[in-house]
Amino acid sequence: MKKLLIITSGGDSPGMNAAIRAVLRAALSFGWQVYGCQDGYGGLINGSIVRMHSKDVANCVQRGGTILRTKRFPEFLKPGVRDQALAYLRAQKIDALVILGGDGSFSGARLLAQAGGPKIVGIPCTIDNDIIGTEYTLGFDTACNTALIAIDKIRDTAFSLNRHFLVEVMGRSSGFLAVDVGMAGGAELIVIPELPISAADIVHTISNRTRKKMASIIVVAEAECPGRSFEIAKAIESLSGIAYKVCVLGHIQRGGSPTVLDRKLATLMGYAALQCLESGDSQKMMAHVKGEVVPVPLPDPALGTRTFDFKTQLHINHLVCTH
Ligand code: F6P
Repeated sequence: MKKLLIITSGGDSPGMNAAIRAVLRAALSFGWQVYGCQDGYGGLINGSIVRMHSKDVANCVQRGGTILRTKRFPEFLKPGVRDQALAYLRAQKIDALVILGGDGSFSGARLLAQAGGPKIVGIPCTIDNDIIGTEYTLGFDTACNTALIAIDKIRDTAFSLNRHFLVEVMGRSSGFLAVDVGMAGGAELIVIPELPISAADIVHTISNRTRKKMASIIVVAEAECPGRSFEIAKAIESLSGIAYKVCVLGHIQRGGSPTVLDRKLATLMGYAALQCLESGDSQKMMAHVKGEVVPVPLPDPALGTRTFDFKTQLHINHLVCTH
């Protein structure tokens, strides 16, 4: 019987559990023996793998986080650490790995496969939606909806007290989350890392509104600097005299019960991952492209992350919010 190991790696995202469930049950249907690695790649160093059965994923499709737990483990990029992991995988006679994670996790996976490791397939999981090769990553829709619920609540108080707000959302190097949440939440301006804008430009934009606003919301992506909205708010106030309250949504966006979209795509990607391994394929990522789940090569780390480049959407949002 072939042995499959499932790993969740890097930041968790809603939908990971639904994907673990689909991978495990599809694997059982194809006659594999399934194991789960605890604490991300760290589990390959500590020897924390456990046998998994169908009942182990009962009642988890609706849960956020990951039942296998995860870890940020940059040490895995060191050859010595990877060699240790490789020796462990060989000793355990693991034939294939399914990695659920983001670009950093896939870089580790590629290196492992290139060093002669087991067959590897990846399922893209990050609330940032920033992996090259796929138009969707599991967790994005849930995170957007979580942030949107928060913004709707902020609007209640903003409009009751005639206040302006900067709401900071996650998204390390990409603005996908900020753009979708900002547009859906009626933000008059959306600040993303791909299109940096100075406080002076923000002031220029809000001062040139065609309609006077007593209350408003600007959505800011945290970029590499969580909490940066406090500085931005200070700069806007000193340049314009307009006070902005700041609300940093933070890790609340990473948790919670996955939406329909995340659960459905997790299920389709989980099954597709097994189909891929069954056909003898390796170093593939289950991507969402033009509405279909398809295998594509694991992303090349040299290309970095996917960035938001639909400027027209920002223009439309601005137009709709200011006229
Ligand atoms: O990559 C997902 C993400 O949530 C980013 O949006 C955010 O910048 C980062 O992880 C936060 O990482 P951590 O949970 O390790 O602080």
